[in-house]
Amino acid sequence: MPTDLAAFDRAIKIAPSILSADFANFGAECEAIEAQGADWVHVDVMDGHFVPNISFGPQTCAAIRPHIKGVMDVHLMIAPVDPYVEAFAKAGADILTVHAEAGPHLDRSLQLIRSLGKKAGVSLNPATPESVIEYVLDKIDLVLVMSVNPGFGGQSFLESQVEKVRRLRAMIGERPIHIEVDGGVTPETAPLVAAAGANVLVAGSAVFKGGSVTNPAPYGANIAAIRKAAETAQKEARSAA
Ligand code: DX5
Ligand code: ZN
Repeated sequence: MPTDLAAFDRAIKIAPSILSADFANFGAECEAIEAQGADWVHVDVMDGHFVPNISFGPQTCAAIRPHIKGVMDVHLMIAPVDPYVEAFAKAGADILTVHAEAGPHLDRSLQLIRSLGKKAGVSLNPATPESVIEYVLDKIDLVLVMSVNPGFGGQSFLESQVEKVRRLRAMIGERPIHIEVDGGVTPETAPLVAAAGANVLVAGSAVFKGGSVTNPAPYGANIAAIRKAAETAQKEARSAA
C-alpha cells in the first residue's frame, strides 16, 4: 500500500482527475501528473445511468495501474455498484468511493470494499445532506463532497458545498477520514474548501489546462497554484481557530 495512505494526515493533497487527460494517452498522462507533483490520481468512472456520461471501466483502470506509482483514487459514479466493486479492486484501486445515492445499502457496499482490503469512500451529490454518513463513520476512510453535479468536467463550483464541508469536518472530529472535494476546483475556489476543512482536492480542467504529455510543465504550475492557495487558507483557518 502506498505509504501516504497508510499514514493518515490532513496535509493538502492534490488529486488530478484524468477525465481531463488525453484519453489516447492515459498511461503517459498519469506519469506526467505524478512527475509534476500530483499526490493522488483521481479516476472518474461513469456509467451513463447514474450520471449522464460514460467514461471507462475496470479494464482501463487495470491498464493504467502500472503507470501510477502512488495512490489510485477511484470514484465510482455507477449504479448498481456492488456487482462491480470486486472488478475495480482487482484492477488495483487503492481507494474505492461509492455514491450514497447509488443504492439502498450503503453500509453493505462499504463493508464489501473493506473486505477486499481497500480504503472505502462515500461521495455525496450536491443535494445530499452530510447526515447520510452519520451511521457509517466507522466504516469509511474518505468522504467525497461533489461541488458540481457529477457527470462532466469543466463545470462551475457550487458554493453551497462549502458549508457541507464545514459540517462534515465537525462531524468527523479526530477520526482518520479524508475530506475530498471534487468539481470546479481552481486556485480561486480551493481556499474556500480548504479553510472549511477539506484536505484532498480533485481538479480536472484546472490541472490539465495549457499542458500535454509532450509539454507537462503547465500541469506542475497548475498543481502548485492550487496547492499554494489551499495550504495558505488551511494555515490561516487553523491559526484563527
Ligand atoms: C465530475 C467528476 C470530476 C470532474 C472534475 O463528475 O467527478 O472529477 O472531472 O472536473 P473539473 O475539475 O474540471 O470540475
Ligand atoms: Zn471525481
